[in-house]
Amino acid sequence: MIYPVIMAGGTGSRLWPLSRQLNPKQFLKLTDGPLSMLQSTVARLDGMDIRKPLLICNEEHRFLAAEQMRQSGLEDSSIILEPCGRNTAPAIALAALRLCESSDSEDPLMLVLAADHLIKDVSAFQQGVAKAVPLAQEGKLVTFGIVPHQPETGYGYIHRGAELSADCYSVDGFVEKPDSQTAKAYLESGEYLWNSGMFMFGAQQYLNELELHRPDILKACRAAMADTHEDLHFIRVNSELFASCPSESVDYAVMEKTDHAAVVSLDAGWSDIGSWSALWEVNDKDAEGNSLSGDVIALQASNTLVRADSRLVATIGVDDLVIIETKDAVLVARKDKVQEVKAVVEQIRNDG
Ligand code: GDD
Ligand code: MG
Repeated sequence: MIYPVIMAGGTGSRLWPLSRQLNPKQFLKLTDGPLSMLQSTVARLDGMDIRKPLLICNEEHRFLAAEQMRQSGLEDSSIILEPCGRNTAPAIALAALRLCESSDSEDPLMLVLAADHLIKDVSAFQQGVAKAVPLAQEGKLVTFGIVPHQPETGYGYIHRGAELSADCYSVDGFVEKPDSQTAKAYLESGEYLWNSGMFMFGAQQYLNELELHRPDILKACRAAMADTHEDLHFIRVNSELFASCPSESVDYAVMEKTDHAAVVSLDAGWSDIGSWSALWEVNDKDAEGNSLSGDVIALQASNTLVRADSRLVATIGVDDLVIIETKDAVLVARKDKVQEVKAVVEQIRNDG
């Protein structure tokens, strides 16, 4: 049986001004259709033989998370609340500890998903998950690798090794977010996959590997988890003990260090929509390459993303721009500069 664990604790700051501290990316409706990113993640599991997903997110988003799960028909799903963000290695450790404690299986199989990814081909995704199951049952820590189509620098790369079975490989190495020259070489070699940030492994197996490579993280998570308070479906861990946990991603803490990594290669129209230009890329566009949503008049515009949430937005003669209008803030940026949105968010924070 598969236990899906959905990580929804990110900040999504590159999607400002839509993504805000109180309403970050995973809770937003970014693409067409009625579902938020989190709800699409849940819907993607439809038809699979799985247990109810376990959600893990920051406590300040508990009502948002609970309400969206309720709308998805999952009002009785448990939600682990982190009092502060400590990145993905501790988040997964809390979920693994919970599953080991509450499940009747000796080593419950976790399918770790990010709440903020787009996957266009759901059936390819589900087939990929099915391929990962026997590997994870053998004790592998499986990551899902995406066949790259451009030298993206916002992703981790996986050097794939020997083929283990159809679309499944051993891992020769992980490289987190390389510079653009390295990314180009990786793309040309044909030997690298993007790390999707989705994983499958036994909960106990993950904890064993964490014990081996980052015992400090495991110790802090165990202590925080040993003192939990449950109300409704919320599981609150001890905040002081969790605050003392080092902050580290699962990629650095475990996946790069373990001898048991494997990768399933996935070609499923995946994107993590990490920036406005990434959203423009995946959206449907008109003949001029514009993606327009809301009340928009775009004259002589090309290759431009316009999103109007509360007012009419009109443009004349603009190319390669991103224009995001919200009630209290407007972003106008060159499409090739949208990674810098993070700097705007930092400035807003500093100005307090
Ligand atoms: N619960 C919880 N707590 N979730 C978290 C936390 C946390 O402290 N930090 C991040 N997350 C969630 C985010 O919401 C997101 O769904 C996922 O974990 C990944 O975190 P990101 O912060 O978005 O990571 P990244 O995009 O920089 O890099 C990772 O994902 C890339 C693919 O999207 C890495 O795994 C890269 O190697 C990978 O290519
Ligand atoms: Mg991300």
